[in-house]
Amino acid sequence: MSTSQQRTNLQLRSLVKKSGELELSLVDTPLPTPGPDEVLVRIEGAPINPSDLGLLFGAADMRGAQASVDGHGRPVITARVPEGAALRAMAARLDQSMPVGNEGAGTVVEAGSSPAAQALVGKKVAALGGAMYSQWRVVPLAQCLPLPEGATAAQGASSFVNPLTALGMVETMRREGHKALVHTAAASNLGQMLNRICQKDGVPLVNIVRKPEQAELLKGMGAQYVCDSSSPGFLQELTDALAATGATIAFDATGGGPLAGQILGCMEAAINRNAKEYSRYGSTTHKQVYIYGGLDMRPTEFNRNFGMTWGMGGWLLFPFLQKAGPATVQALKDRVAAELTTTFASHYSKEISLAEMLDLEVIGVYNQRATGTKYLVNPGK
Ligand SMILES: NC(=O)c1ccc[n+]([C@@H]2O[C@H](COP(=O)([O-])OP(=O)(O)OC[C@H]3O[C@@H](n4cnc5c(N)ncnc54)[C@H](OP(=O)(O)O)[C@@H]3O)[C@@H](O)[C@H]2O)c1
Repeated sequence: MSTSQQRTNLQLRSLVKKSGELELSLVDTPLPTPGPDEVLVRIEGAPINPSDLGLLFGAADMRGAQASVDGHGRPVITARVPEGAALRAMAARLDQSMPVGNEGAGTVVEAGSSPAAQALVGKKVAALGGAMYSQWRVVPLAQCLPLPEGATAAQGASSFVNPLTALGMVETMRREGHKALVHTAAASNLGQMLNRICQKDGVPLVNIVRKPEQAELLKGMGAQYVCDSSSPGFLQELTDALAATGATIAFDATGGGPLAGQILGCMEAAINRNAKEYSRYGSTTHKQVYIYGGLDMRPTEFNRNFGMTWGMGGWLLFPFLQKAGPATVQALKDRVAAELTTTFASHYSKEISLAEMLDLEVIGVYNQRATGTKYLVNPGK
């Protein structure tokens, strides 16, 4: 068997130049030897999540993207980042060639000297830590999750980001004293996991989607409350669902447009249905919306028609995990491992190679972020 020093490592890179050109390419990178508490993983599956797309394409306008090949005959994609605010917002990454891919899974083929690392040789693990769109990746043990016996890399590829975020939402709800949840873009991969968690744990969940077919998909999974924002009666239907569940905390993946404010307004209306007396300051029940995604890039707009007891803020997995502490994080990871192929199952519409990731037609599909079009990258394909 070849060692880490003898292997070449093909890796996908995203470079935004100071000139405003985005360049996506495949490069050979050196592969470090694993340290005592590290393992070398052959990456066999890595999902393309919306957060990966943010790093991959930056603010480039992919509608005008061009395809070419480099001196090795490998694909290269170029596109323009519009001058002005979009380019300025990326100042910290300009002229730096960046690896991409938050998470993935594969087989441990070499390990550092510690017994814990050695014990993983030959085992399948999920891994977190960036640069997963690579053939090989050296990963610290603390960022690995051994997969249950018999689980495939495809089943384990999305073990961290979406499962821990969905569990983190329920944990945040409990810690902040709420008893039911609202979730938007709710037919997403993450939204489907959240439905399974809430049904299992008996947590009432109000799902907000934007198309009738997404509402049908969630109802088919047993979701009780699904509101379609394209329905003419949306605000009334949302208020009814909030009154029925008592949900006073929402996680909004869209971030832009009127939705976050509409949710707060409907929460206030639902609470006031049972109010005994009028208060000009609104209800005293705290209503919270956490924006945790940027699927809609428009500004966040709201009319303050929800009194004075409310909050709107950002929510991100990694600060949550830090705040939750090691014992909680371990318990959440254990649950993901135990329910990997049930509660936390992810569906991919296609498995693609690193080279296929740089194909304009393929990009046109996975860059839509549409329901049911998540792709899995297999760098060994
Ligand atoms: N904050 C964190 O730490 C964290 C961690 C993990 C995930 N996330 C976020 O979680 C969200 C879901 O991730 P995922 O991997 O589950 O996504 P996914 O499976 O790729 O699904 C994306 C969903 O978003 C919907 N969508 C796309 N653009 C939309 C828009 N402009 N308005 C409303 N809905 C829109 C799609 O519905 P259509 O079919 O209608 O397009 C689809 O259902 C993403 O926003 C991601 O960034 C955040």
